[in-house]
Amino acid sequence: MRKKVTIVGSGNVGATAAQRIVDKELADVVLIDIIEGVPQGKGLDLLQSGPIEGYDSHVLGTNDYKDTANSDIVVITAGLPRRPGMSRDDLLIKNYEIVKGVTEQVVKYSPHSILIVVSNPLDAMVQTAFKISGFPKNRVIGMAGVLDSARFRTFIAMELNVSVENIHAFVLGGHGDTMVPLPRYSTVAGIPITELLPRERIDALVKRTRDGGAEIVGLLKTGSAYYAPSAATVEMVEAIFKDKKKILPCAAYLEGEYGISGSYVGVPVKLGKSGVEEIIQIKLTPEENAALKKSANAVKELVDIIKV
Ligand code: NAI
Ligand code: 2OP
Repeated sequence: MRKKVTIVGSGNVGATAAQRIVDKELADVVLIDIIEGVPQGKGLDLLQSGPIEGYDSHVLGTNDYKDTANSDIVVITAGLPRRPGMSRDDLLIKNYEIVKGVTEQVVKYSPHSILIVVSNPLDAMVQTAFKISGFPKNRVIGMAGVLDSARFRTFIAMELNVSVENIHAFVLGGHGDTMVPLPRYSTVAGIPITELLPRERIDALVKRTRDGGAEIVGLLKTGSAYYAPSAATVEMVEAIFKDKKKILPCAAYLEGEYGISGSYVGVPVKLGKSGVEEIIQIKLTPEENAALKKSANAVKELVDIIKV
């Protein structure tokens, strides 16, 4: 049977994720938004690309959750960008209300779906979706680590002038200033970058990774990144649909792993048909462990404001 993905929010990340899903023929896609006409228009435009690109995936744009019924995966990208005069907390509360309302609709129409949350602030929004949905923790996952790791991999490849395909990298922690890139576990054809680059160069790449989202906002001026975020989201969708058992850094609900409880934080997980099938615990140095705890505390501060 054909798979069905609903993407909530047909803005930059949502529409580009839809394009990537149909290009790979992973599923039929429903694009939903509160703005009338935009999901319908983008949906039709994507449908009309099928004969040229050679896919038969169906795309439907809508404002009605009835059309999303029985989705296998729901990707939540709905949210507001930060506007002048709006504090981080204002944005947190606005997006909390949006993600809460969206999750209630998703649960009603697709009670067996897996949720992949993209909306920011990511770790607090995925925790919102988890608490509001009542879904088991394996079926509510946050996208950030795949993106942050891809940025780190890109910068390592640029620095060493090697193929990105040779590079594996891990970035753990929350999706924000406190994220924790792990150079010891970041390798070029299996060789840790700590053996290939001096400390100051690694520190510079780590800093650029931490600031990766802001760097793009600074260039675009009217929005944030969406090509790499949509690619990262679709890597997760593909791992689940193909039951790949792929190890990827994702925001997952921790219950004691890494000494953290009751909170979503970016850690390596195994993604397969059930969603998060395992949380992989890797050994951290005391310094890395302290950085992860600091990041988890930063997430908790946000979660405490919205009380989820
Ligand atoms: P965008 O502004 O282009 O699209 C957001 C869409 O959400 C808009 O079309 C808007 O109408 C829609 N929306 C707002 N309220 C809604 C509701 N209640 N129901 C349905 N749709 C609703 O923004 P973009 O660039 O697509 O980013 C989306 C979100 O993803 C933002 O919160 C952004 O910060 C976040 N993001 C997170 C990343 C991550 O690594 N987790 C990476 C990139 C973006
Ligand atoms: C990013 O990292 C804005 O969270 C988004 O690009």
